[in-house]
Amino acid sequence: MKKMKISLISTSHRKNSQSGRVRELVEKNLQNRVKNIKIFNLDFCEDKIPTWSPEKKEKIGFWLKKWPKISKELSTSDGFIFIVPEYGGMATPNAKNFFLICGEGELAHKPGLIISISSGNGGSYPISELRSSSYKNTHIMWIPENIIIRNVEQFNPGNHGALIPDWMDNRINYTLDLLLVYSRYMKPLKNKINRKDFGNGM
Ligand SMILES: Cc1cc2nc3c(=O)[nH]c(=O)nc-3n(C[C@H](O)[C@H](O)[C@H](O)COP(=O)(O)O)c2cc1C
Repeated sequence: MKKMKISLISTSHRKNSQSGRVRELVEKNLQNRVKNIKIFNLDFCEDKIPTWSPEKKEKIGFWLKKWPKISKELSTSDGFIFIVPEYGGMATPNAKNFFLICGEGELAHKPGLIISISSGNGGSYPISELRSSSYKNTHIMWIPENIIIRNVEQFNPGNHGALIPDWMDNRINYTLDLLLVYSRYMKPLKNKINRKDFGNGM
C-alpha cells in the first residue's frame, strides 16, 4: 500500500503557541498510529506566509522562491489537519488567508479535520466559520467530525489537568482514525474530477 501523507497546519499568530504544541502532540500520535506515515508540518509562525496579494499571480518574491515547495508538499498530501485557535470569536486571519492562497487545487477533494483550541470555553466559532466559508474554491472536504480542545493549557495526553474530560483522548484517537480512513479511500477521487473546467466553486 502507498505511503500515507498528512499535512499538519498550525494557524496561530503567536510564537510558542498552544496550537504549535497541539500540532506536535498530534504528530506524535499519528506516528504511533500509522507505520511510515509521512507528515508535512506547516506552522504559520515559523513559515511566514504573506497575506494574499496580486504578486502571487505575478510569481515574484515569496511566491517564486518559497511557495512552490510548500504548494507541492500540500498537493502530494492525502489529508489535512488544521489547528485553529479562536481569536475574537473567529478563525485566525492566518487560517483564512491560507484558503485564499491554496488556489491550485492543493486541497481539492481531499479530507480535512479541524482541531480548534481555546484557553477558555470557546472554540466552536472557528469550526462553524471554516465549515461555511473555506471550501468553495479550495474544494477541501471537511470530515463530519471535529475536535475542540478547551482549556488547552491543561491538555497533556496521559496527564491532563482537571478541566480536560476523561473521554478526550479516546475521542481524539477515534477522530484521527476517521481522518486516516477518509484519506486512504478518497485518494482516487482527484483523478476522476474535472478541475480544469470547474476549478472554482459556484
Ligand atoms: C487575539 C486573540 C483573541 C482571542 N480571542 C479569543 C476568543 O474569542 N475566544 C476564546 O476562547 N479565546 C480567545 N483567545 C485566547 C486563546 O484561546 C488562547 O490565547 C490560545 O492559547 C490561542 O492559541 P495559540 O496559543 O495557538 O495562539 C484569544 C487570544 C488572542 C491572542
